[in-house]
Amino acid sequence: MKEIALHLLDIVQNSVRAGATHVDIRFLLDDQGVLEMGVRDDGCGMTPEFLEKVRSPFATTRTTRKVGLGIPLLMQNAMQSGGRVDIESTPGAGTDIAAYFVTSSIDCLPLGDLASTMASMIMGSPETPEFSIRCASDKGEMSFSTEEIRPVLEGVSLAEPSVVQWIRESLEEEIEPILGGIMK
Ligand SMILES: Nc1ncnc2c1ncn2[C@@H]1O[C@H](COP(=O)(O)OP(=O)(O)OP(=O)(O)O)[C@@H](O)[C@H]1O
Ligand SMILES: [Mg+2]
Repeated sequence: MKEIALHLLDIVQNSVRAGATHVDIRFLLDDQGVLEMGVRDDGCGMTPEFLEKVRSPFATTRTTRKVGLGIPLLMQNAMQSGGRVDIESTPGAGTDIAAYFVTSSIDCLPLGDLASTMASMIMGSPETPEFSIRCASDKGEMSFSTEEIRPVLEGVSLAEPSVVQWIRESLEEEIEPILGGIMK
């Protein structure tokens, strides 16, 4: 994985597969340059025993192949920068994954194209789940949610190309001043 945004894609795919109806994403950059990428969902959750195994690359409920790599790779890349990954999960209630990246490290992945990643995730699941994103740094804060814009669209699909383009462009415009310094 070459970008943090690609890890986001994988972690969100886990939430979608877990049957989440809400996926709330956060990117919070603190004044020490530590970036938190957080994903909270209300999907099926994991038992404490399974959660222990998820931290190793052999835990998966996938039937197409034997190993799941999404979370172990995220852990590896976060730790390579000097950060870590915290996971909280409750069966039947949901999961919260927080990955911390030390952006000043030369081993830290670039953020990548967060706006395009969000737009393609929304386009790929235009009905359920509802997505939200919040970005914050000492430069400011923004938030966006599909639930908020749905009424404005009056039934037009979130997968409609012009809507997708509008989402991507407005996210880009709003995120750049907040996280712009770590995007590439
Ligand atoms: N948000 C979540 N809610 C419920 N279960 C989850 C969640 N995230 C991960 N899991 C469980 O943990 C397993 C491991 O996840 P991981 O992303 O590491 O691998 P994978 O999704 O199985 O495969 P890959 O990511 O390589 O395509 C998943 O198969 C799933 O059973
Ligand atoms: Mg995965």
